[in-house]
Amino acid sequence: MSPNASPVSLTRYLIEEQREGRIGPNLRLLIEVVARACKSISIAVGKGALGGVLGDAGTAGEASINVQGEAQKKLDVLSNEILLEANAWGGHLAALASEEMDHCVVIPDEYPRGSYLLLFDPLDGSSNIDVNISVGTIFSVLRCPDDIATVGDEHFLQPGTAQVAAGYCTYGPSTMLVLTIGNGTHSFTLDREIGSFVMTTRGMRIPEETREFAVNMSNQRFWEPPMQAYVGDLLAGTQGPRGKDFNMRWVASMVADVHRILTRGGIFSYPLDAKCADKGGKLRLMYEANPMAFLVEQAGGEASTGRQRMLDVAPTGLHQRVPVFLGSKREVQAAVGYHTRHD
Ligand code: AHG
Ligand code: MN
Ligand code: MN
Ligand code: MN
Repeated sequence: MSPNASPVSLTRYLIEEQREGRIGPNLRLLIEVVARACKSISIAVGKGALGGVLGDAGTAGEASINVQGEAQKKLDVLSNEILLEANAWGGHLAALASEEMDHCVVIPDEYPRGSYLLLFDPLDGSSNIDVNISVGTIFSVLRCPDDIATVGDEHFLQPGTAQVAAGYCTYGPSTMLVLTIGNGTHSFTLDREIGSFVMTTRGMRIPEETREFAVNMSNQRFWEPPMQAYVGDLLAGTQGPRGKDFNMRWVASMVADVHRILTRGGIFSYPLDAKCADKGGKLRLMYEANPMAFLVEQAGGEASTGRQRMLDVAPTGLHQRVPVFLGSKREVQAAVGYHTRHD
């Protein structure tokens, strides 16, 4: 944002999109509510040890294990509760689903029921919470089919192309909300003094080419042959078939890694490996891969499982996992090419 331009708040952006007919009042309210919840999570994250929010959830030394089989952190649980509470009473939602909950939660009868479904990863990057490295929240919005009596998990099983909005909030040196409603990907930075998100980039664009990749290299020996071949060629640098040197970055918070890629390009991958093959991958389709794929495509990038466009995957389960390749268009195409040639 140039210092002289008049700032566009998230509220103003959403009202202008509504005026243009690209969103309705309920979707606008939904995004405002999610943004408000993210501000609360940002405050909790920012307090760190002073807020008593670090460390594991659970009582009497007993770990609290979520549906993913992971030990929950206190901030996983708190962020989930903040998002649930904020979204319960606005009348914009029919039901919510979360990485941290076994099944969807239907809006209780005491509140009006709306026409949207909200999915979220309330706190992404759990392993980084206690070491003061960026974490985030990821969300995805679907329409609730309107010819159903009772909402259930099965109504969330829509492909990523059906998303009407998606975004993430990153709690880093600054708190930023990155959003798409299908009309470009835009970033908003939280002005902590006035308490509102202000647009800082309209129309983020991912460079098509890159020399930077993000992957957990410690899994190398567990990867499939096409992934071994792809990264082998990246590491070969100017001496290899790619003919250029690559740099590597791995934050281990998907939100932070994807935010870097939306800002300056790169490829993010969490491929299939022998440790997660029985689950289909590590990252979750509905809470992580699809919202990020929507944001990346809207910024001119690509997102794939290595074998299929991410947004075309027909979901079979709420907590389904998939391999993920996303970011700079040409580099994602290169990674997919290795899979195509090997299959
Ligand atoms: P979450 O904290 O929501 O469970 O997600 C963690 C994910 C993702 O953020 C990150 O890219 C990946 O797990 C990190 O995995 P490694 O432990 O392999 O680095
Ligand atoms: Mn988790
Ligand atoms: Mn996550
Ligand atoms: Mn999470």
